[in-house]
Amino acid sequence: MNRSLLSKQINKELIDELKNNTQVLLSFLQNQNDGTIVYALEKLGKLENGYSKEPLLSLLNNQNENIRTLSIKNLAKIGDVSLLPTFVKYARLDESTEVRRESVSAVGRLRNEKAIPVLIEFLKDNDPKVVMQAIRGLLVFSQREEVKNELKKLIDHPNELIKEVINKEVNGIQYKSNNSQKHDEFPFSLKNTVVHGDVQKILKHVPDESIHLTFTSPPYYNARDYSIYQSYDEYLKFLENTFKEVHRVTKEGRFFVLNTSPIIIPRISRAHASKRYPIPYDIHPLLVKMGWEFIDDIVWLKPEACVKNRNAGFLQHRKPLAYKPNAVTEMLMVYRKKSDKLIDWNIQQYSWDKVKKSKVLDKYETTNVWRIDPTFDKIHSAVFPIELCNRVVKYYSFIGDLIFDPFAGSGTLGRAALNLNRHFFLTEKESKYINRIKEELNKSDNLFSFKDSQPSFVDLENFIKSIKGTI
Ligand SMILES: C[S@@+](CC[C@H](N)C(=O)[O-])C[C@H]1O[C@@H](n2cnc3c(N)ncnc32)[C@H](O)[C@@H]1O
Repeated sequence: MNRSLLSKQINKELIDELKNNTQVLLSFLQNQNDGTIVYALEKLGKLENGYSKEPLLSLLNNQNENIRTLSIKNLAKIGDVSLLPTFVKYARLDESTEVRRESVSAVGRLRNEKAIPVLIEFLKDNDPKVVMQAIRGLLVFSQREEVKNELKKLIDHPNELIKEVINKEVNGIQYKSNNSQKHDEFPFSLKNTVVHGDVQKILKHVPDESIHLTFTSPPYYNARDYSIYQSYDEYLKFLENTFKEVHRVTKEGRFFVLNTSPIIIPRISRAHASKRYPIPYDIHPLLVKMGWEFIDDIVWLKPEACVKNRNAGFLQHRKPLAYKPNAVTEMLMVYRKKSDKLIDWNIQQYSWDKVKKSKVLDKYETTNVWRIDPTFDKIHSAVFPIELCNRVVKYYSFIGDLIFDPFAGSGTLGRAALNLNRHFFLTEKESKYINRIKEELNKSDNLFSFKDSQPSFVDLENFIKSIKGTI
């Protein structure tokens, strides 16, 4: 039976009856199939009274591991210390790792000191999920010397999540800003500034932790006219160095959204093959290594009519191995500057009023597939559609923030930032695109509404002077 039919059959009234009457629950469980039992167990909600205890215990020998897991989960809600031996038994002996994990979680949820030795025992478990649950249970007692010492022993655990939690608990919060500026502020000389020059030279002069959000589409290796690299390795090295600098200038815990896609370098003749380069997949490990934490992958989906047709051959011959799909997607990889602070910390750095004004109140994209038509430009061959920039700016920044595009091209991101009451900082090396940025920014609704929003266009030399405060 599908879940919508189940939800009609097992409605709120029935659930209330099941959890408040032992006999009704027992007979219900005897007469239902596994799917229905799982559904009912998921819906039981709060269970402070003990009426469900006996029926739930009777399910612990069920063949179905989902049913055993959910029974343990519900038993834990009762908060009855006499269940401790039962939880310990299933934590030690059940063949299912899910049931074991849930049982250790149940031991922890008792929040009873009798559970401490058992939880310590599970710190040595082979399954990192079980260890994690044991840590969670023990953190309630983390002031006790014996617990502290046991947790410290995990500092070199092979699992990265365990290591991270223990490090935070043992060493406390590590982050100390090098920047005296408040989180919602940024250096004045970056405000609505377009610097004409090489991004790597420019970034050397940008102070640490100046930027709230970076969204960029870097050159496509040698696939377009504006970039020439001797080799793919050289290209990746260039991106790696640039994004290390972006990392340095990004504020604690803030976001970097990278738009790339695999590219193709056409074959030189029919006797040779064309070469495809999986740029997003090759950059990703470099980004993680330099301290960006992967958050999400968003797929930008374009209509098939707008992309290059690679199908003509296959359409005729239909021979396997020579299949070539039309590439209708690009990636938007979302990263956060790795931090021991939670996103809530970042939000708390803003006034209540700013948070309120930055809320995304209109219709928003709920999935990671963004269907947006590409924009074609007479001057620049690869511009961002304004809608793509609008979404990134709205979802990943607050009003008043500083938004950066190191490869600004026609400067679409700058226009989105201004329209959405943010500020921009753009760098672009080609003079023909700098002129295009001027035209683009003139289209902004907000350009003339605030005197202090006027963009300034500078070269590297003048930028350095303004950063040093000599202008
Ligand atoms: C894919 S385009 C970006 C297009 C942009 N997103 C837009 O909406 O127009 C990449 C841009 O990076 C610029 N670029 C390439 N290497 C650069 C460098 N070393 N420093 C600054 N800009 C660079 C290119 O001139 C090009 O305009």
